[in-house]
Amino acid sequence: MMTDAKLILGDCREKMREMESDSVDMIFTDPPYGHNNNDGDLAHNREKALGHELTGAKAEDARPILNDSPKEAEIVFKGFLKEAKRVLVPGGCCCCCCCGGGGPDPQFARWSLWLDAEIPFKHAIVWDKGGLGMGWHYRRNYEFVLVAQKQGAACKWYDETNSVPNIIKGIRKIIPSQAQHPTEKPFELAAWFIRLHSREGEIVLDPFMGSGSTGVAALRLGRNFMGIELDEKYYRMAEARIRNWKGQTRLNEATGGDLDG
Ligand SMILES: C[S@@+](CC[C@H](N)C(=O)[O-])C[C@H]1O[C@@H](n2cnc3c(N)ncnc32)[C@H](O)[C@@H]1O
Repeated sequence: MMTDAKLILGDCREKMREMESDSVDMIFTDPPYGHNNNDGDLAHNREKALGHELTGAKAEDARPILNDSPKEAEIVFKGFLKEAKRVLVPGGCCCCCCCGGGGPDPQFARWSLWLDAEIPFKHAIVWDKGGLGMGWHYRRNYEFVLVAQKQGAACKWYDETNSVPNIIKGIRKIIPSQAQHPTEKPFELAAWFIRLHSREGEIVLDPFMGSGSTGVAALRLGRNFMGIELDEKYYRMAEARIRNWKGQTRLNEATGGDLDG
């Protein structure tokens, strides 16, 4: 099956405004958490210890994510939700990674309520990331994926076994190298949700695409993909990763590039 990928460079709140209502079958995304990731935190310290041999950057350099202060992330997340509610088809689900591993900030609780204020909350799935986890007291070993469902039709749900658990095991987290996005998600995580909430040929949107992990999963599963990313270096990274997947006919309105062949 031929699948299509459209990648857009820009702010998802503006770019989603240009999209038609009821046009996206599902959203899988991983927004900035508002934790100043890789900017003086544990992840940054780990990178300092490991060094930056791949990029040549100085070991102490942070790799901050755009809109990742608590206030910025709140504004961006709420703005995204307004458009998410509009562009999803009735019954379509918004699956949102949330807040990397727990820790002292109850961000998952705030996000669940903000999500529910726009798109009715359906479930919080726990991704057991395996390994030792970061931190000291209660090492951080899980991540929530919050799922909300747009009303107006039955939930788009394509499993018939009635045996899907709400804890995901066996998908290992990525410890990113300097050549990767600092919060790259395994594409298998996105694939787990894409299989449940969409069918082949349907449209999967990731408005905070980063390095394009959701796009890789969507294309591998025969779905069409739309991805939006604000930071040009990660947009280019996503473009390069997705370019490697065959079966696409068109990529990217921002650069006008067609990726046939
Ligand atoms: C947590 S990361 C996503 C990482 C991604 N899951 C991956 O596997 O590479 C969030 C991304 O959202 C981007 N971002 C921040 N604000 C944005 C906005 N308003 N519109 C689009 N992207 C934005 C950041 O640049 C960052 O790459």
